[in-house]
Amino acid sequence: TQNATDALRTPIVAVLGHVDHGKTSLLDKIRGSAVSEGEAGAITQHIGATAVPLETVSTMAGSLVDPDDFDLPGLLFIDTPGHHSFTTLRSRGGALADIAILVVDVNDGFQPQTEEAIDILKRTGTPFVVAANKIDTTPGWNPQDGAPIQQTYEAQSQRARSMLDERLYEIIGQLSDSGFSADLYWRVQNFQKNVGVVPLSALTSEGIPDLLAVLMGLSQRYMKDEMAIDVSGPGAGTVLEVKDEKGFGATLDVVLYDGVIRAGDQIVVGGTNEPIVTEVRALLQPRPNAEIRTEKRFDKVEQVGAAAGVKIAAPDLDDAMAGAPVRVVRDRPLDDVVEEVRKELAQISVETEEDGVVVKADTLGSLEAMANALKEAEIPILRAEVGDIAPRDVAVASTAGEDVHQVILGFNVEVLPDARRELEESDVKLFSNDVIYQLVQDYDEYVEEIQR
Ligand code: GTP
Ligand code: MG
Repeated sequence: TQNATDALRTPIVAVLGHVDHGKTSLLDKIRGSAVSEGEAGAITQHIGATAVPLETVSTMAGSLVDPDDFDLPGLLFIDTPGHHSFTTLRSRGGALADIAILVVDVNDGFQPQTEEAIDILKRTGTPFVVAANKIDTTPGWNPQDGAPIQQTYEAQSQRARSMLDERLYEIIGQLSDSGFSADLYWRVQNFQKNVGVVPLSALTSEGIPDLLAVLMGLSQRYMKDEMAIDVSGPGAGTVLEVKDEKGFGATLDVVLYDGVIRAGDQIVVGGTNEPIVTEVRALLQPRPNAEIRTEKRFDKVEQVGAAAGVKIAAPDLDDAMAGAPVRVVRDRPLDDVVEEVRKELAQISVETEEDGVVVKADTLGSLEAMANALKEAEIPILRAEVGDIAPRDVAVASTAGEDVHQVILGFNVEVLPDARRELEESDVKLFSNDVIYQLVQDYDEYVEEIQR
């Protein structure tokens, strides 16, 4: 429904990929170029995200992006550290990100976390482009700082070009093995049907103009309807992280994808037991880069509109969960909003059985992904929870009926000191990893070994 307050929000772009393939370097370069273009003030550093306005995108992309062709306000980039799964980025029944950039090192090709990211992109139906990064490492490369890829290609020797092409076609082949028809982006006609591969370098900025052009084009062409939101409606977001901050206690790093949130708003947040009802004490944004060393690291703001990253300080947030929904109540019956949050959490709850393994994961989304992987591998789950491994988990695992089920599978979580002691004294076996499929594989091998 259109109404007077409808406007187009900033598309949310998640950057994902295997460890060290260059996600942060790519974002740093986009931020850095904006600074060197003299538009530092235009870039706003959010919690867990960076907003780049259309004018800045267009300056960086040069002739590839004409701002007159677009009516989206810009792009909001979310970095996902390699150890931290993209699965946190969920929203009402789907993916939080509107688009994703899958960063793949041209030297390494697909790696475990690339595969994992691909699985999630497939499951959530998130459109994505592949940034084939580090093209400057091609032997004999002649770098053309900041140039669009065609221009760079023309400056290369025949030999360097064919070496790069070989690597790119390997990535295109790997995409095809994963079920995606892909091609170099300039050969793609329909980005909804085919995945575009953009060769680039986060070191020399070659190809970054192309990446920005593809992202803007994709958002404008295919997602404009989804970007139309009621900008003054009650805010809706997803918890990225629960963090203790000096002077504030437990705070939430949130990506807001709908509406507006204001200081003083009553909010409902998904918690480990029940939805948490609380009131926003402060909305915090990081200070601009230049000021980061001052003792107060955050600026208090009165309100934040979607899409944006923001830190929320409020009482009673200790039991909030990463990956859980956040809703502003405003003008609605509190019970309805609590019910909405409860329903959303129920969608994520995991099927458990009488006998099975104990699963611990860092976020709701990763717990969900773990549960899916275990179901596929026909491994039953006795209990699945978000959080670090505690003594109680060891106790629960030791009650499993079959020996092979006396196991804790930890995805991206810590073992609390007391739990470590209990583990040493019990028969419970711990498997931990930050790659889901590796965790499942390790467990499978263990089962095979003891059943031999
Ligand atoms: P995690 O956050 O740990 O998952 O890694 P990341 O994907 O953010 O990788 P990051 O940006 O930290 O880069 C990893 C390493 O690769 C760093 O040493 C970068 O300097 C290097 N690197 C990134 N992009 C490029 C590139 O385009 N060319 C070259 N030569 N090196 C690059
Ligand atoms: Mg990084």
